[in-house]
Order: sequence, then structure tokens, then C-alpha cells
Amino acid sequence: HRDELLFSYKGIPYPITFCSPESFKALESFEARSDDVILAGYPKSGTNWLRQILTDLIAVSQKKTPGSESSASDEDLEEFPYLEVGDVEKYERMTKLPSPRFMVTHLRPENLPKSIFKNKVKILLLIRNPKDVATSFYHFSKGLASFPSYDNWDDFFRDFMTKKMPWGCYFEYVSEWSKYTDKENIMAITYEELKENRALGVKNIAAFFGIPLTEEELQLVVDRSSFQSMKKNSDKTHGTFGNIFFRKGGVSDWKNLFTEDQNEKMDKVFEEQIAGTKLGKKLKY
Ligand code: PPS
Repeated sequence: HRDELLFSYKGIPYPITFCSPESFKALESFEARSDDVILAGYPKSGTNWLRQILTDLIAVSQKKTPGSESSASDEDLEEFPYLEVGDVEKYERMTKLPSPRFMVTHLRPENLPKSIFKNKVKILLLIRNPKDVATSFYHFSKGLASFPSYDNWDDFFRDFMTKKMPWGCYFEYVSEWSKYTDKENIMAITYEELKENRALGVKNIAAFFGIPLTEEELQLVVDRSSFQSMKKNSDKTHGTFGNIFFRKGGVSDWKNLFTEDQNEKMDKVFEEQIAGTKLGKKLKY
């Protein structure tokens, strides 16, 4: 069952309903523009959350009102913003989109098109505590037919700790991206810090992308990005999938799933593989 849903590209499993080896091949020669806006994050780190914040900020920079009819909605962008998701011709079509093009990716840096780094494209990198990521991923996998689902949490946990997850291993993701965080075109933010202070997070993100914000604009982006308001709006933004993309939106839900033994196992891997890395140090763990 698992093998029917996933394929492997450069050693990493991806869901066949979203990605294909042909698209990955085409993506290699994708020409990034220096004013592209990229959001990178491992699955279930809060990418939909930041995706809205960033599209709202782009709307502000174009003097449009976030959330209004005239603002840059996904339909206006004409392309599903997930960079590695789509048909083979997607990248050709993207050459015709106006700047700034906005894209989201779950890919590790070594699997992104080289032009992104060559052209110093600004990347907002989102990371989240692996215990909450695993918890969120488990519930999500149960709700989405394109992902291998698991009968029980123990089986899921075992696979999460290996390279079997769609988009690969969380720990490798964080340690690979840690090698890039020194670059001035990359800003890392944690789910937890944004949760603690959304206004400060939005301000910092806007400053990083050079987008000036009035107090009212800031307030609007902050209000629209609360979990409650995004969940409420999710039938419009995500249709019937709203409930699986906006589940709990909190910190520490892992405590409802992890056994003591699993907790210790993850602490050990965290300690061995990422605690010493730049991003590992930034994670509130
Ligand atoms: S996906 O499928 O990889 O694109 O999922 P992703 O959007 O990265 O992550 C989903 C989790 O993000 C939570 N979320 C939010 N948290 C706080 N505030 C807001 N506004 C928000 N929007 C989404 C979402 O609820 C998922 O986490 P869990 O823990 O499952 O609730």
C-alpha cells in the first residue's frame, strides 16, 4: 500500500499524487528570480500559516488589502504555490508570472534548484519542535488518502524516526538547512516563537523582506493569522480539507501521544543529530 502511494527521488520518498520524477527533473533547471519570495518548512511545521502571512504581506507591499477581493489570492497566482507540486509544464508557466512570485517548499536545500542560491533569493525558513511535528503529521496522515496512513501511533512514530516519511527525515531536514542559516538571504523562524508573539514575528518577517507596514496593516495581518480566524476561514481557503489542515494549532499536543519511552528516544536523537546545529539551538525544545 505504502509503495503505491510514494516514489523515491534521490533517496527521499514523495507522494505520487503531488510530485513526480519528471517534475523534479524539470525543477532542476528552474530559473529563480532574485525577488522571488520563498517559504521553506518541513511538512506540518505551520507552512499554511506562514503562507497566509506572506501572501498578506505581499498584498500590503502592492498596496492591496489583505484578504480583500483585489489581493493576491492563490487563484491570481495561477499556480499552486508549492514549488515541487504540479505537472511538468508548471515551471515553464511560472516564467510568465509577474514578480514577486511566491512559493512554498518542503524540500531540503540540496534538492532545490541551484538558481535559488545563486540569485540569493530570500528564504523564510520555518521550523517546529519535532514532537509536535510528528503529532501533527500522524493526525494528518490519517485524514489524507494520498499519504500512507497508520493504524496506530506506535507504527507512525517508528517510521517518523527513519527516512520513510514523505519528504524525508525531519532530523536530516533540520541538519541540512542548518548549514545554510548563516547566509544573509535566509531568515529562520520557529513555530513556537510565532505562536508566542505573532505581532513581533510578522514585523520581523516584513522587515526581512523589506516591506514597510503601518500599525493598521500590521494589526490586520496579525488578526487574520490567528488560528481561530484561519480555521474559521478554512472552508474558503482549503475547502473540505480545512479541518485537517487546521487541527489544534498549539504547542505541546505531543504530550497526548508520546509514551515515556518514545519521548526518551526522540530526546536522544535530537541530542545526537540536531541539538548542536544552528537550527537545533534555535528550537524551543
Ligand atoms: S502541511 O500539510 O505540511 O502544509 O501542514 P502545515 O501547514 O505545515 O502545518 C499544519 C500545522 O500548522 C497548524 N496551524 C497553525 N498553528 C497556529 N496558528 C495558525 N494560524 C495555524 N494555521 C495552521 C495546524 O493546525 C497544524 O498543526 P496541528 O498541531 O496539527 O494543529
